[in-house]
Amino acid sequence: MFKKTIIVGFSVLAFAGAAFAGGNGQATMKLKGGSMGDVPFPHKAHQDSLKNCDLCHKMFPKEAGAIEKAIADGKLKKKEVMKACETCHKETKAKGAAAGPTSCRDCHKK
Ligand code: HEC
Ligand code: HEC
Ligand code: HEC
Repeated sequence: MFKKTIIVGFSVLAFAGAAFAGGNGQATMKLKGGSMGDVPFPHKAHQDSLKNCDLCHKMFPKEAGAIEKAIADGKLKKKEVMKACETCHKETKAKGAAAGPTSCRDCHKK
């Protein structure tokens, strides 16, 4: 009886986990930034303000570690995603709107 409760409990948790991963993903994450240090990335803030997943996910799938995998598979160049981050921040800033960082040290944190 007790054992059964535990198994049911686990499968509910596993289901919730899968639903979470397939949804919007983590609200904040740390992207691997090589020798310059990792890059903290406010994922949810971008989803809320940009309202278009494809602005980023046309470059890589909606999976944890997708950027590193695409680079390893030769589907993305090193710093290609970084350039997309920078380009959008620069263009947004040029329009006078609130934008993200454009300098190395404001993105890469050691
Ligand atoms: C400004 C860029 C950007 C936008 C816009 C964006 N994402 Fe992401 N997303 C990322 C990055 C970066 C990763 C991490 C990839 C990696 O780990 O290599 C990611 C990872 C994910 C993951 C898998 C990782 C996790 O947290 O579970 C999911 C799911 C996801 N995104 C869903 C979405 C959805 C749904 C939208 C639109 C509502 C969206 N994303 C919009 C950049 C973005
Ligand atoms: C808008 C944020 C942002 C800015 C500004 C930025 N970076 Fe990055 N950088 C990233 C992200 C995200 C990655 C990981 C994804 C990728 O490789 O495209 C990265 C990756 C890197 C890597 C690792 C490449 C590899 O895989 O070996 C280096 C080195 C790097 N950046 C150096 C710099 C330098 C130097 C500057 C300033 C001239 C800079 N970055 C500015 C976000 C940024
Ligand atoms: C298509 C446009 C676009 C892309 C692509 C984009 N950003 Fe941004 N980013 C924004 C805008 C607009 C803001 C400011 C408004 C906001 O915080 O929602 C911002 C804000 C930020 C901030 C500051 C958040 C804060 O709390 O002040 C960080 C850090 C950041 N972006 C990192 C990144 C990284 C790293 C990438 C690439 C993986 C990226 N962004 C890709 C548009 C973009």
